[in-house]
Amino acid sequence: MRSISFFLVALFAFAATSSALVDVGVDFVPTLEARKAHKNNTAEGNPENRQCNRLARLTKLTALAANQTRLDALVAKGRLNETQVENIKAKAANATSTLQTMQSNTTLVQECEVVEAHKQVVRACKKMRVLDKLSTLANNQTAMNEFIATKQLNGTKLEKFQDSIGNATAKLQDLQKNTTLTNLCAQEQKAQGADGSATSSGNDPPAQSTGGATSLSLQAMPYAVVPALAAVFAAFL
Ligand SMILES: *[C@@H]1O[C@H](CO)[C@@H](O)[C@H](O)[C@H]1NC(C)=O
Ligand SMILES: *[C@@H]1O[C@H](CO)[C@@H](O)[C@H](O)[C@H]1NC(C)=O
Ligand SMILES: *[C@@H]1O[C@H](CO)[C@@H](O)[C@H](O)[C@H]1NC(C)=O
Ligand SMILES: *[C@@H]1O[C@H](CO)[C@@H](O)[C@H](O)[C@H]1NC(C)=O
Ligand SMILES: *[C@@H]1O[C@H](CO)[C@@H](O)[C@H](O)[C@H]1NC(C)=O
Ligand SMILES: *[C@@H]1O[C@H](CO)[C@@H](O)[C@H](O)[C@H]1NC(C)=O
Ligand SMILES: *[C@@H]1O[C@H](CO)[C@@H](O)[C@H](O)[C@H]1NC(C)=O
Ligand SMILES: *[C@@H]1O[C@H](CO)[C@@H](O)[C@H](O)[C@H]1NC(C)=O
Ligand SMILES: *[C@@H]1O[C@H](CO)[C@@H](O)[C@H](O)[C@H]1NC(C)=O
Repeated sequence: MRSISFFLVALFAFAATSSALVDVGVDFVPTLEARKAHKNNTAEGNPENRQCNRLARLTKLTALAANQTRLDALVAKGRLNETQVENIKAKAANATSTLQTMQSNTTLVQECEVVEAHKQVVRACKKMRVLDKLSTLANNQTAMNEFIATKQLNGTKLEKFQDSIGNATAKLQDLQKNTTLTNLCAQEQKAQGADGSATSSGNDPPAQSTGGATSLSLQAMPYAVVPALAAVFAAFL
């Protein structure tokens, strides 16, 4: 779901309303901020990566346009309307020759595989950081109650939220088992330098969050986390 949302935002060229931004969930909000903050240091900064982003976007667009099942499902869920579906198909048709040209450049394709692999790691690291925050929240009843009160959660929204948050610790521990990933995340964080303050526990060794010792308290969280949490929450609705 997240990747589709991410794609849709990209597709509509960041002409996204704030609700659409929230819609994209975990990965997008911090990414966007990171891009703004140091464009020159990131994947967005150089032409090759722009090419790769374009290739990735057109590939996704084409796959989606060709997958009627998926389009129907998105319409059924209210995430797309018929006008938007027509738009997607028109854009995909228009992009066919551009995409073919790009795909025939094996140098480009190979470079982009590397770029995509890196992006995937970055996404996984972010996911771990968010799960860490959620896990902390899940293990702190006071903080949880505050969050529920602030967001005025009740009924099914509350249920869904509790459902999702209930698995955060397990999901986090699952990801943390992958030491390749945790090592890469540690490297990423070092590379980001000062930014690391916002992301203190992505590289913690596997830990029982219930112990509290390794978890950040919500209060200690930098302010930037609040929108991230809200976005996570919105993604579950
Ligand atoms: C980014 O790069 C451009 C050109 O390479 C340069 O003019 C600009 O000052 C750089 N911006 C930052 C914030 O480093
Ligand atoms: C079309 O999308 C569905 C998910 O909505 C997926 O299961 C299926 O594999 C896709 N078909 C193709 C040909 O990619
Ligand atoms: C489809 O959605 C777009 C964007 O949300 C909106 O501008 C448009 O009016 C909608 N079209 C129909 C037929 O509902
Ligand atoms: C079709 O693609 C070209 C470039 O590939 C672009 O300039 C043009 O605006 C596109 N047309 C539509 C209707 O999207
Ligand atoms: C293929 O892609 C590479 C890397 O982006 C680029 O340097 C090269 O000019 C491209 N070749 C052609 C024929 O477009
Ligand atoms: C739990 O959250 C509350 C409110 O955010 C905070 O004051 C408290 O220190 C937290 N407790 C632990 C053990 O982190
Ligand atoms: C949730 O709370 C709002 C007021 O805050 C109330 O109007 C609504 O009926 C409640 N919904 C449920 C399912 O309890
Ligand atoms: C959450 O955890 C329960 C049991 O621990 C499991 O049955 C369920 O599939 C999990 N849900 C998700 C979304 O992972
Ligand atoms: C561990 O993480 C790396 C980097 O994201 C990934 O390539 C690899 O498939 C993962 N291994 C497992 C067992 O999930």
